[in-house]
Formats: sequence, structure tokens, C-alpha cells
Amino acid sequence: MNELTIHVVTLFPGIFESYLKYGIIGRAIEKGVLKTNFVNIRDSAEDPHGTVDETPYGGGAGMIMKPDILAKSLKSTLKCCKKKHPEVILLTPQGRKFDQSQANKLSMAEEFIVICGRYRGVDERFRKLYITDELSIGDYVLSGGEPAAIVVIDAVARLIPGVLQDFESGIEDSFQENHLDCPWYTRPKVFEGLKVPDILLSGNHDEIKKWRREQSLKRTRKRRPDLIDPQGFERNKKKMHK
Ligand code: 6GU
Repeated sequence: MNELTIHVVTLFPGIFESYLKYGIIGRAIEKGVLKTNFVNIRDSAEDPHGTVDETPYGGGAGMIMKPDILAKSLKSTLKCCKKKHPEVILLTPQGRKFDQSQANKLSMAEEFIVICGRYRGVDERFRKLYITDELSIGDYVLSGGEPAAIVVIDAVARLIPGVLQDFESGIEDSFQENHLDCPWYTRPKVFEGLKVPDILLSGNHDEIKKWRREQSLKRTRKRRPDLIDPQGFERNKKKMHK
């Protein structure tokens, strides 16, 4: 059976504790197909204050994570790795955008390391020497990479074979086929005057499948045309701004 180990290098390992206990991810850990290893960057600090970051050379607001401390922390993480050269992913708003295809790729790895940057970021020399990839979860700034790490762990873990049960079928998920999910309904048949579409009560499974596919496409065209035709979307965007 596939088994994936995710090493998380962070200043706040406590953030992850509760999230990983619940639901599908909790079950994956219980089953042993997902293993996590948290490394506290603070443990690599070398002074009595536990200093991990300092002000930037040249001035400016915010703190920069020290390259020596990060390297020490990463090296202690590598000692726990099975692989000699696992991917070392820095979570930062400067990274490539994390998406479903990236999640698919990572779910096939045996193990990888994610490093959670804080605020202003990490010293450029640490990036250059030790980081193999940089990922961002979207175009906004978070105070730290920890929520992004949770996003990455969740998206990747649900793709490990044996994690989702048949009825949860990830294959039909939004984005797995580059389109949004269709609308879904459950009991009651009438809710505050709104009825469930007749087709869903018809028992005709071919027709239901077709309807759902159409709804998916319609939704994607309306809300996320960029998923259907990324180039066309970019062209139109440029036209719009002329
Ligand atoms: Cl990975 N980190 C931070 N700090 N902010 C982000 C992000 C990551 N992705 C989007 N915003």
C-alpha cells in the first residue's frame, strides 16, 4: 500500500494538531497511509532568547527568518527522512500556485518536506541553497505558511489510494477534471418552497449523469471560464483592460 510521509518545518507545530485529528485526514493517519512529522524551527535556535528571525539588511518592516537556523532545522529534518533528497517545498505567497495537478503529483511521492515561512519571509540564501520548489495557495497574503501547509496536506492526503472510501470517490471531484462540481440536493424534497429538480427523482441514471455533466459545464463557464480556456481567458482579460 502507498504510504506518504509529510515533514512539516514550522515555528508553530501546535497549529496542526486539531485539524489532523478529524475526518478523512484523521482516518488516513489512523490507517497509517499518511504519516506526519513536525519539526519546530525554534528547537534549532542557538541563543537563550530562541532567536529565529531578525530585521532585514537595508531596512524595511518585518522580520526575516535566519538562514543558519533554517538550515539547521532542515538538516535535522533530513535525518528523519527515508530518501536522501526529498523535495523541500517552501510555502510562500511568492510560490507557484498550488492546484489539483500539483496535489496529484505530490500524492505519488514517498515523502516530502514543507517549510512554513512567516510574514516577510526567509533569507534568500536559504531559498537558493535548500529549496526545491515554492508553492502559494492563492493571491493573498497570510501571516504564515501554516494554513497553506494544512491546505496542501489535506489536498494531497485525500488522493493517497485507500484514503477515500468508494462513496467519497475523489475522481468526480471538482478540479480533478478541470471543472466545478454540479449542484447537489438531499432530503427534504421541498425546502422553503424550493423543489429538488425532477430529473434527480426520476431514477434514470443515464439522464442524471448527463444533467450533472451539463450543470458542471454551465457553472464552470459562468464562474470559472479560465478553467475551460486559460489562454482565451487571458486574451479577453487583456482586451478588457485596453
Ligand atoms: Cl504559502 N504563505 C503565506 N504566508 N501567504 C500565502 C501563501 C503562503 N499562499 C497564499 N498566501
